[in-house]
Amino acid sequence: MTPPTPLIAGNWKMNGTGPALVEARAIADAADVAGVRLALCPPATLVERMSREAAGSRLEIGGQDCHADASGAFTGDVSAEMLREAGARLVILGHSERRAGYGETDALITAKALAALRAGLEPIICVGETRAEREEGRALAVVTRQIRGSLPAELAGKPFTVAYEPVWAIGTGLTPTLEDIAEVHHAIRATLKDMFGEAGAAPAILYGGSVKPGNAAEILALPEVGGALVGGASLKAADFLAIVAGAPKA
Ligand code: 13P
Repeated sequence: MTPPTPLIAGNWKMNGTGPALVEARAIADAADVAGVRLALCPPATLVERMSREAAGSRLEIGGQDCHADASGAFTGDVSAEMLREAGARLVILGHSERRAGYGETDALITAKALAALRAGLEPIICVGETRAEREEGRALAVVTRQIRGSLPAELAGKPFTVAYEPVWAIGTGLTPTLEDIAEVHHAIRATLKDMFGEAGAAPAILYGGSVKPGNAAEILALPEVGGALVGGASLKAADFLAIVAGAPKA
């Protein structure tokens, strides 16, 4: 099976209003880079406008979360179908900020992944250990348990992506050693193959957590690192495009 096309995805989190669309426009204008996919996941309020900015370019737009149901009495929530209608093609699910801040469980993330499939969105499913779990030597056990618990069997053969984001590396400027990143990515690939057979070789496995222009190239060159999920450094086109420039191309 051919290796997955690398994906560099930006997660804007709860940042960005209309004026920030100039950054997305600059990224869209520079997105015609062969052998690598580019995506931005803005707040829900910007998905539709950013999709319009990206129209005709190779920049893909995604949501940051979705509800498991298509519609209903869920005040404040957005469904996968709504994101799709607004122009999204991807959706981040199970980000640690949602697992920790909103009590999202593996079972809920599984339901949301099924919703993404139902709506025709490619899920980017996030996993990652806390600092305490790493210090206790439990990182691999936690991550593989999250993979097994959060990915429905229905994903087999469908486009999906996994993101390894150690909780303690997010927004801190800290990153695991290259050896530790490679070890976790290897374990994730082995788990995906165990769950999905040969189809488990297809999904890209992204690294996320304090990826910057200065450290991206060495992380992205690691075996089984199929791209990056970038937070803070995705808010500025120059930083995001510098990360893309350092990415190996398929
Ligand atoms: P930072 O790149 O800001 O550390 O955020 C990573 C992240 O959480 C992406 O989803």
